[in-house]
Amino acid sequence: MRRGVTISVISMAALLAAACGGPTDEAAKDDAAAAETAKSDDAATMSATAGSAGADRAQATQVAIQFVAQLLDEPPLGLPPVSEPADNPTTAEKIRLGEILFNDARFSSTGEVSCATCHDATKAFTDGPLSVSVGVNGLTGTRNAPTVINSAYLTSQFWDGRRPTLEAQSKDPFLNPVEMALPNHDPILEIVRSDEAYGGLFQDAFGVTGAAVTIDHVAKALAAFERVVVSGNSPFDRWHFAGEEGAISAAAERGFDVFINDGRCVSCHTISQTHALFTDNKFHNLGIGFNKIAADTDRVVGHFLEIAHTDQDVDEAVLGDAQMSEIGRFAVSREMQDIGQFKTMTLRNIAATAPYMHDGSLKTLRQVVEFYNTTISPLEDQNQTPNPFQSGGIRPLDLTEQQIVDLTAFLETLTSPEFEDAARASLAYQAQADGSE
Ligand code: HEC
Ligand code: HEC
Repeated sequence: MRRGVTISVISMAALLAAACGGPTDEAAKDDAAAAETAKSDDAATMSATAGSAGADRAQATQVAIQFVAQLLDEPPLGLPPVSEPADNPTTAEKIRLGEILFNDARFSSTGEVSCATCHDATKAFTDGPLSVSVGVNGLTGTRNAPTVINSAYLTSQFWDGRRPTLEAQSKDPFLNPVEMALPNHDPILEIVRSDEAYGGLFQDAFGVTGAAVTIDHVAKALAAFERVVVSGNSPFDRWHFAGEEGAISAAAERGFDVFINDGRCVSCHTISQTHALFTDNKFHNLGIGFNKIAADTDRVVGHFLEIAHTDQDVDEAVLGDAQMSEIGRFAVSREMQDIGQFKTMTLRNIAATAPYMHDGSLKTLRQVVEFYNTTISPLEDQNQTPNPFQSGGIRPLDLTEQQIVDLTAFLETLTSPEFEDAARASLAYQAQADGSE
């Protein structure tokens, strides 16, 4: 049986800080802030010792390198190995740099928004309980921020899969007017080419410095960092893959049975013999949000086709207009039958990432299960808004109250140890939201 990686992603980042060491005050401050946000004593101690005796650093470097190697070969319990592109092998130095870039708010028009604003490590790399994300100047987008945890395993990025890789994805938020709102990538390059700390970090990670640093180096470092934000080893993993009896409650065990059988959840949120990603990496139309364009589909699609010429146009259109957001996978494939299709999201750490669905319209796990159970409208049901694009095979489940409770209990067993605090906070929010219904 495979061992899970016991060290957490968050303390790992601090470990790398100690290992790669030597940032200037500015970067050190960012890093200290990141460690503080992580609220991990380990992380704080590690960061505080950054730059201390050389022997410590050499040892920390060894540990960090081993950690990266182990993570790639022998991932946490319940997860497969992470694959990486041939032109961007994961190294400790890139991860270290990527983490600092991820937390740097200077790469936004107001100097206030970083990747971590919407993908906050203390909130399981989301911005819950926001339904849709808030970027510069309080501007709201149209979609719920998915977690970055385990995005390394996805075969496409974004709810509509419009970007094929983490590298490609990472360049978009900088430019989107409702996210970080830079006019182009030049302001980023100005900072990373002139800032002394970044000079050393890019040199270590890529062997380039000054004018030789490009936005592709920035993207590669961000992606390398995201590739180690992987997290398994949940109570479910210990029970299902390591055979640990009692790791989950009897209710959750029954809930797993509902997940597989009566609930048919596993047909899209897939599980294999050796690991579970809980996503088929495919796109489906559950009918969520379709009411926003039901009466107006032709006009919305027509307008989209008029304005969306480049990849950047598409990014701006779907995040800038609530109706255009609802065309879903159509934005990529331009096939009518893909209207309203969105990517099956992973269910790992789902208890920590409320609210749910691409538009954040379902506030709690209970509401999600109830949605699948009753609200979801079969194609034939003329009493509901007809949704000609809804995926086949989707119909209300008719689960009993006990099955609903059990299934919800099962979903709560998918929390990794690193994100237990985030799950507690989110579940408290959810209890309140369910109570106030
Ligand atoms: C203003 C909030 C905001 C900021 C800032 C932001 N993101 Fe996101 N992120 C989102 C939202 C919302 C989505 C979903 C958008 C969509 O699917 O159309 C997303 C999607 C993603 C995804 C895809 C995950 C998946 O499951 O498909 C990744 C990876 C990601 N962001 C990484 C980053 C990185 C790296 C940065 C910084 C360069 C960043 N984000 C900045 C809000 C934000
Ligand atoms: C036909 C494929 C399919 C089936 C079957 C299915 N799901 Fe989903 N699931 C999806 C898709 C697609 C989304 C995203 C939909 C959207 O946002 O429009 C999703 C989203 C979710 C989310 C929210 C994820 C997030 O990060 O916001 C949860 C929770 C969830 N499903 C649980 C379940 C459960 C529990 C079942 C069984 C009762 C189930 N799903 C059955 C495809 C499916």
